[in-house]
Amino acid sequence: MVEEPETAAPAAGGDARYGAPAGRAEVRRYSEVDVEAARRVPSGFGEFDRVLGGGIVPGSMVLVGGEPGIGKSTLLLQVAARVAESAGPVLYASGEESEQQVKERGQRLDIGDAELYLLAETCLERLLEAVERVRPALLVVDSIQTIYSLSLASAPGSVGQVREAATHLLFNAKRGNVPTILVGHVTKDGALAGPKVLEHVVDTVLYFEGERHHAHRVVRAVKNRFGAVSELGVFEMTGSGLLPVSNPSRLFLSDRAADAPGSVVLCSLEGTRPILVEVQALVSTGAYGTARRMSSGMDHNRLALLLAVLEKRAGLGLAGEDVFVNVAGGLEIDEPAADLGVVAAVASSLRARPVRPATAVFGEVGLGGEVRGTPQAGLRVREAAQLGFTHCVVPAANSGRDTADAGCETIGVETVEDALDALLAVS
Ligand SMILES: Nc1ncnc2c1ncn2[C@@H]1O[C@H](COP(=O)(O)OP(=O)(O)OP(=O)(O)O)[C@@H](O)[C@H]1O
Ligand SMILES: [Mg+2]
Repeated sequence: MVEEPETAAPAAGGDARYGAPAGRAEVRRYSEVDVEAARRVPSGFGEFDRVLGGGIVPGSMVLVGGEPGIGKSTLLLQVAARVAESAGPVLYASGEESEQQVKERGQRLDIGDAELYLLAETCLERLLEAVERVRPALLVVDSIQTIYSLSLASAPGSVGQVREAATHLLFNAKRGNVPTILVGHVTKDGALAGPKVLEHVVDTVLYFEGERHHAHRVVRAVKNRFGAVSELGVFEMTGSGLLPVSNPSRLFLSDRAADAPGSVVLCSLEGTRPILVEVQALVSTGAYGTARRMSSGMDHNRLALLLAVLEKRAGLGLAGEDVFVNVAGGLEIDEPAADLGVVAAVASSLRARPVRPATAVFGEVGLGGEVRGTPQAGLRVREAAQLGFTHCVVPAANSGRDTADAGCETIGVETVEDALDALLAVS
């Protein structure tokens, strides 16, 4: 239940509240629209640009959500400083920290003498007035939940206030062509706090994720009007701020014990980028009546399905066995091409046989035990070859033409059984 106080309609000027200009609306011919003015502004971080679809679009509004303390303010302050160096003044409005606190962080991040303006302000009207004065090339608002409008009586962070503030900032962004980045808090179950409509209002929604116990952080787009979603940007949190990681595969495979049973290297695809990750499985005889199946980093139901396929089609005795599957490094894998990696890891652990050395795998598994083709096979195989893998077990449909020049020997398989024969070394 949300309280919505009734507001009297303004006497004249209709929608003057949202700052619409009086007079006629201009209609423009398609061919006369100037796209030069819409050149993207590079954020100074290739990894951040990648998620945005190639830079910050002028007049766009981006919402960055993430758990408390994950590093949202750090990332945006770094971006603000880089943009200030390359594109002109940047206004960083912080409702959560004083100017001194922001600067203290800035010193740790080694931000020099950029044209960066700080504003510790939570009042929307005063913030908009400051934007009018500074005319920034980028506006960062940290966070939208702390901003309140004088026109509403409810508390900051309430649904009405968040919606009001976001709408005004959106109109401001479109009118003045000021790209705006908002920080959004997330609720306990990981969704963005505030009204759902917030996600519709903005052009792009990014999630900043990571695990407290790992140094790497991942920025993921869940909505993007100007680029592909599911694109990933990978960073590493260090004492001097976030460092972009240009070769995530190396990072995700860095702790792998290659000849341990139950460990498989999967060529997965995040957006347009292939990333190699380690899938680990542990199968152990359950102590209690019902077998436990746990997964982290992949869908639980998908695991149940794959275990059923292994049992029925490849004759593995998994009834009564506890099965644990983990995608190492805290990455979340949700594409079907991960199936073969999971299946191989489980079989490898059950049979206590390691996977062939220097071999990577990908492929979708069907209910009949068949291995189905996967998009972008060539990209995946090339990434594996680059990291020193000499063999790839791939769907038969992808073997040959797609992957011929990848520099890595591919073994095409048609069924799960074939795949396990090809992958598991004879001990
Ligand atoms: N001296 C330091 N060395 C290394 N890492 C640090 C240091 N100081 C802070 N950090 C990292 O920065 C993180 C805090 O970053 P930041 O304040 O940007 O998070 P946030 O997402 O904005 O949090 P909030 O939601 O509370 O605003 C800490 O969790 C920590 O990992
Ligand atoms: Mg913060």
